Amino acid sequence: MKKLENKTVFITGGLSGIGKACAIAAAKEGANLAIADMKSESGDRAMEDIRKANSKAIFVECDVSVFVNVGAAVEKTVSVFGSLDVALNNAGIGGEPNKVGDMTEQAWLKVIGVNLNGVFNGMKHQLAQMAKQNSGVIVNMSSILGKVGFATSAHYVAAKHGVIGLTQTAALEYGTSGIRINAICPGFIDTPLLTKGGISDHAEVKQMIIDLHPMKRFGKSEEIANGFIFLASDESSFITGSTMEIDGGYLAQ
Ligand SMILES: NC(=O)c1ccc[n+]([C@@H]2O[C@H](COP(=O)([O-])OP(=O)(O)OC[C@H]3O[C@@H](n4cnc5c(N)ncnc54)[C@H](O)[C@@H]3O)[C@@H](O)[C@H]2O)c1
Repeated sequence: MKKLENKTVFITGGLSGIGKACAIAAAKEGANLAIADMKSESGDRAMEDIRKANSKAIFVECDVSVFVNVGAAVEKTVSVFGSLDVALNNAGIGGEPNKVGDMTEQAWLKVIGVNLNGVFNGMKHQLAQMAKQNSGVIVNMSSILGKVGFATSAHYVAAKHGVIGLTQTAALEYGTSGIRINAICPGFIDTPLLTKGGISDHAEVKQMIIDLHPMKRFGKSEEIANGFIFLASDESSFITGSTMEIDGGYLAQ
């Protein structure tokens, strides 16, 4: 028996890295998929890969930082598949590094807009649909940096801490509504986000970050997808308001 057979799974930022791995894993578990992401050429290729795993996948163009965009994407998903069973609020960006005192307001607002407001925008629309159904699962992508600080990344750290606060609060509010809400806190995962952030291409920086993990390596997107499938499925039926750390021991120190 597949773990997400005929479930409708909505994933933001599903065309790259962790989101794409979660999409492919959900497809293999029998889910109907809606991928909400920005349009791009590499995204078109990613969509082909996801469809190879499951022909029932649709793409919905969506900037998660724009409230009405996310509403329209959720509406489209429900109109195509008839329900919304699982939502993964995963879309995220790294942001320009700087100390708090040197960070521009624009750099701050950009990261908060995608990484925190984007999750609120998703949850607001997803919860409206799930409350009608009296069922659903939401998984929010936080980070180890939702639990501890990281110099030069205040915008990212604040947004990821905020995602955990949102997750816990909504879990309290919807505990008796048949809706479970949890967050995943990955350590550093080898995805295009690290390349964009200048980490993967600089040997010294890369080694310094790898060394912060007791397992002395980056994580793989598929290792996060394994956690996502567990939280999305009935195997985690008594888990809500929790944070799942998949971090090679980063937070154990
Ligand atoms: N890679 C890591 O080390 C790591 C660690 C902890 C948490 N995370 C989190 O995991 C999530 C996925 O990261 P990733 O490493 O796979 O990154 P990635 O850059 O590979 O993928 C991010 C995806 O989000 C999409 N996206 C970005 N802005 C968007 C917007 N405004 N609207 C819709 N889609 C948007 C991108 O198009 C892309 O498909 C992010 O929330 C990130 O913060 C990543």
